Amino acid sequence: MSKLITVFGATGQQGGSVIRTIQQDDTLSQEFKIRGLTRDASKPAAQALVKQGVEVKTANMNSKESLVEALQGSHSVFLVTTPDWGNAGSDAELIHGKNVADAAKEAGVQHLIFSSLLNVTETSGGRLKHVPHFDHKAKVEEYIRSIGVPATFVLPGYFMTNYTVFGMLRKGDDGVYNLAYPVGKDAQFPLIDIASDMGKYVAAALKNRSEVLGLQLLAAADYYSPTRILAEFESVTGKETRYVQVDSDTYKSFIPGPMGQEMLENHLFVENPGYFNGRSLKESHALLEKSGYQVTSWEDFLKQSKDSL
Ligand SMILES: NC(=O)c1ccc[n+]([C@@H]2O[C@H](COP(=O)([O-])OP(=O)(O)OC[C@H]3O[C@@H](n4cnc5c(N)ncnc54)[C@H](OP(=O)(O)O)[C@@H]3O)[C@@H](O)[C@H]2O)c1
Repeated sequence: MSKLITVFGATGQQGGSVIRTIQQDDTLSQEFKIRGLTRDASKPAAQALVKQGVEVKTANMNSKESLVEALQGSHSVFLVTTPDWGNAGSDAELIHGKNVADAAKEAGVQHLIFSSLLNVTETSGGRLKHVPHFDHKAKVEEYIRSIGVPATFVLPGYFMTNYTVFGMLRKGDDGVYNLAYPVGKDAQFPLIDIASDMGKYVAAALKNRSEVLGLQLLAAADYYSPTRILAEFESVTGKETRYVQVDSDTYKSFIPGPMGQEMLENHLFVENPGYFNGRSLKESHALLEKSGYQVTSWEDFLKQSKDSL
């Protein structure tokens, strides 16, 4: 274990996935010691990491000083940032990402793996300007590139848990599960089982560092249309479903506050030009397979979460 990897968001879904994958991988578990960062080392999720043999350290992306100290000695770093939901106009996520990038540069980090996304404003040619949780990540990616920290960008697809945990598939009074989106039933959603699969892409990046420096890996099992999402849900669970395409105002009425416009434009982006701007998942899947990993399909995910649905 000659190298240290420091993981942001260690108590959350993506960072947690990265830690579990490295610990379960025969090669990486020998190669890397893991440091997990949290704002509160006393919380149960942080304590659970200590029991798993992770070195837990306190750091806050708000504070540059805490970051330089937290990244000391790190060969690699996994970074996930989170939006300042409910605070319209806030650029906290962008500042957090830049703070970590600066600290990584100062600490001489050799591989920063950032959970990035596309710039919706630019990719849509200015048609969709209100999706800061995508745009800020793309700007952090741009900043990391500009200051020359060796990096790889893993872009997670649309979380499968959005349907199960966040209740996007809702049981109606008639017992039928409804999926309502402001897009057509053929729009293409790149789905990922985030807790299981995010770590696989990060592990693949660690195993193939020189090959993936500067690249974007697209992290998703496949592109799924709402039609396919519901057909597979019905076949695994035996429950009846219905797809409802709603207009923009109706969709926004589901989500109070400025998040309504953001989520609306986020979904319009999925339809056109596309969550990954129409790019194929082929190369990212090839890298994953070469590194000894398989993606989790929507069907597999449903089979595993069937009892909680
Ligand atoms: N839902 C989707 O379909 C989708 C798709 C693509 C990307 N995303 C993006 O995924 C991200 C969420 O990832 P996730 O599900 O892994 O998040 P999560 O489970 O909510 O975890 C967030 C982590 O960030 C840490 N954190 C928050 N603020 C921090 C700060 N100021 N300094 C240091 N650490 C901080 C938290 O650690 P402590 O609380 O322990 O400090 C926590 O571990 C969001 O940016 C979202 O935009 C979502």
